[in-house]
Amino acid sequence: MNLIDGKKISLKIQENIAEEVKKITSSGKKPPHLAAVLVGNDGGSETYVAAKIKACGRVGFNSTLIRHPEYVTEEKLLQTIADLNNNSDIDGFIVQLPLPRHINEHKIIEAVLPSKDVDGFHPINVGRMVLNLPCYVSATPYGIVQLLEHYKIETSGKHCVVVGRSHIVGSPMSILMAKNTTLGNCTVTLCHSKTTNLSDYTRSADILICALGSPEFIKADMIKQGAVVVDVGTTRVESTESKNGFKLKGDVMFNEVSQKCSFITPVPGGVGPMTIASLLKNTLLAAKKEIYP
Ligand code: GUN
Repeated sequence: MNLIDGKKISLKIQENIAEEVKKITSSGKKPPHLAAVLVGNDGGSETYVAAKIKACGRVGFNSTLIRHPEYVTEEKLLQTIADLNNNSDIDGFIVQLPLPRHINEHKIIEAVLPSKDVDGFHPINVGRMVLNLPCYVSATPYGIVQLLEHYKIETSGKHCVVVGRSHIVGSPMSILMAKNTTLGNCTVTLCHSKTTNLSDYTRSADILICALGSPEFIKADMIKQGAVVVDVGTTRVESTESKNGFKLKGDVMFNEVSQKCSFITPVPGGVGPMTIASLLKNTLLAAKKEIYP
């Protein structure tokens, strides 16, 4: 079994981005600027946003964190988005999801200018991704494609099974893997909570991408010998072993599945760091106005 080291590759990508930032600033231009909007105090979201802001510092980006309390009104949040859309110093921004239930997530996502939507969640970017037009590809699926590329994992003609159909990961992932591109050309099956006999599909996967958010759900008897296994799960479970009282668990039972597969992403240190690298890449594209000139 080969461990897919997302952390190492993410840092490599970040080094390359830092080099580009140096070129930008030495030509007299301002560094790229990413803003993040965080609503409430969800532990997971706090951790992810803190990691994104920290990574900005590492590559030389400017960053701004805007916080709102859990009870913020939709109107107030829409105003924050309008301000960021109109602020020419901000190249791109994200609104960390999930949002509290009283806020309509679709309305918020649609309020972000597509040219600043470095998460790639706006319908314009999703539609352009489907049609192979220049766009921001959402960070986690884009990160996974880069991992497969780095490890020279053959995708053409392979059966890729994606478990989970979220707008953030499963759906875009299934589209990317089926594309007529070097890093696609898979035959894709998208499984979800209503799939019957899930194991019949997962066992036929050459590449299995697990994004269901159910800790250690995928067991060794659910995979094919020699499969490539990508674990997108990051569920926080209580743990007495760590300082903060939590531990991240993936969707895959790592100990047993790793005995049977050819490649596997660990949790943490697999897909997570790649999401950050992709977000920084998208922000750099935004600053250079490469997608929306
Ligand atoms: N919540 C979980 N993943 C993501 C992500 O990639 N971007 C945002 N904005 N929220 C998330």
